[in-house]
Amino acid sequence: MGDPLATILTQRLGCRYPVIQTAMGWVATPRLVVGSCEAGAFGFLAGAVMTPAQLRDALAEVKAATDRPFGVNFHMFQPGAAEIVDIIIAEKIRAVSFGRGPDAKMIARFKDAGVLCIPTVGALKHAQKMEQLGCDMITVQGGEGGGHTGAVATTILLPQVLDAVKIPVVAAGGFADGRGLAAALAYGAVGIAMGTRFLLTAESPVPEAVKARYLEAGADRIVVSTKVDGIPQRMVRNRLLDRIEASGAMGRWARAVSAGLAMRKATGAPFGQLFAAARGMASEGGLTLPQAMMAASAPTLIQKAVVGGDPDEGLMASGQVAGRISDLPTCKDLVDRIVADAATRLAALRADRASAAA
Ligand SMILES: Cc1cc2nc3c(=O)[nH]c(=O)nc-3n(C[C@H](O)[C@H](O)[C@H](O)COP(=O)(O)O)c2cc1C
Repeated sequence: MGDPLATILTQRLGCRYPVIQTAMGWVATPRLVVGSCEAGAFGFLAGAVMTPAQLRDALAEVKAATDRPFGVNFHMFQPGAAEIVDIIIAEKIRAVSFGRGPDAKMIARFKDAGVLCIPTVGALKHAQKMEQLGCDMITVQGGEGGGHTGAVATTILLPQVLDAVKIPVVAAGGFADGRGLAAALAYGAVGIAMGTRFLLTAESPVPEAVKARYLEAGADRIVVSTKVDGIPQRMVRNRLLDRIEASGAMGRWARAVSAGLAMRKATGAPFGQLFAAARGMASEGGLTLPQAMMAASAPTLIQKAVVGGDPDEGLMASGQVAGRISDLPTCKDLVDRIVADAATRLAALRADRASAAA
């Protein structure tokens, strides 16, 4: 008998359970991706903050440790994007995820190469656009989700998108357990995608002191700010975020320049490339240039927390769901627990209905 939780997601992505570990800059490293894939989920590598050379190394590391399929996250405006796309195709990666960026031509190129396109969207109109562009599935992220996020909650956005598109939909934003998986399947989604929950696992590379701060954060302290880069982004409130919230235009410019310098140091990309990335984001996303410079380099501020281990002076991107997470299981324990709980919930619903009908 097949797995009772098998869906079109498990079929197309080649994983055991309908659970995706989403890409998180600096966090979705080879170790986390191997952990989630070996546990039966489908992991996305955080390619959007890697140089082409770093991506090549990361792909080799994942492939050496698991033969399960996995995906790569990237964005069109990152330095070296064209080479990154070539690598993904040459390495026959199962799927790509992205926010915005690839046009119909690039999506067709991925599809011709057998790479599934699974963008993440936070608004109904973006879901419709991604379907028109030819994407294979979409991850719909409600506003409670971590990192850049939309204004509409999962409970509203998910059914709206399910009603509006024909391609399979994966539910994201606020998921952490088997109840959530059962609920997402009941809505009509083909699975769930989780970022924050996988950030808080044993395989996540985030330093222990920062993990502890995530575990301590109450849901009401995980807020959306537009001041970091002009795009709403959900993070744990800390010293740096409070300072950014209180700062004016000069402060934003100063941060844009220093974040650009940090990005240059991290990626080795020449300023021209960073500037082009920022300009691309500005014209695509309707941002001002300083906002776009921050958007292009904001990951380095997240890096300060999730790699550097500073929970006060780095940004702690997070879903609100961290407010109800209190442990750091291995990916295997986490996925096993989610799958068992979802199966129990679904069976309980069937039993309740059967006894009500009797
Ligand atoms: C620390 C952190 C970093 C993130 N970085 C990225 C990224 O590089 N690319 C991306 O597409 N999404 C990124 N996201 C968003 C996640 O992939 C995912 O869509 C989101 O976390 C889902 O909501 P959840 O946190 O409630 O599970 C990030 C989220 C977090 C918490």
